[in-house]
Amino acid sequence: MIAEIRGRKLKLLFSSDEILRRVAELGIQITEDYRGKNPILIGVLKGAFVFLADLMRHIDLPMEVDFVRISSYKSGMESGDIEFIMDVSTPLGGRHVILVEDILDTGITLRFICDKILSRGPASFKICTLTDKKERRQVDIKADYVGFEIEEGFIVGYGIDWGEEGRNIPEIYVIE
Ligand code: IMP
Ligand code: MG
Repeated sequence: MIAEIRGRKLKLLFSSDEILRRVAELGIQITEDYRGKNPILIGVLKGAFVFLADLMRHIDLPMEVDFVRISSYKSGMESGDIEFIMDVSTPLGGRHVILVEDILDTGITLRFICDKILSRGPASFKICTLTDKKERRQVDIKADYVGFEIEEGFIVGYGIDWGEEGRNIPEIYVIE
């Protein structure tokens, strides 16, 4: 088991069991909210792919999946510029879109992606984030489905990386 990354110790925040239990709850909630509809889940690469993979297996509805990718504007722990480097391959007009993200932090990334998606005329649009760092919000954006609200701190694991390391860790840790 990985106990540190680049010499920095990891402190357990959410166990694998805790994560999977919460993700199942979100899937059940989405199933209830979208009954009779055929939603499309759009995952934000790379961080959300593990969460999306588990989440969709708890959604008991016909549904589709697609992905977008944003240039990693945070190479380490700093913010910078944003760029869209991969778009969905599905027309979104009239679709029920659920954007799936790993972390809602300052909100700058999601604001950018939301504006792009909303300009395509979806029938509805909701945001589902595994974790929400509410205190750090810089732009006006709110998630509709939140796995865990978290305090300050840089997290890693369950798809979430620190400079591309740690995505394979089954738990979520905070870097000490
Ligand atoms: P925002 O634009 O500040 O909301 O950026 C959110 C994105 O920044 C997330 O999707 C992550 O890719 C990255 N990020 C923010 N906080 C963390 C963290 O604690 N660990 C790893 N990546 C993070
Ligand atoms: Mg991300």
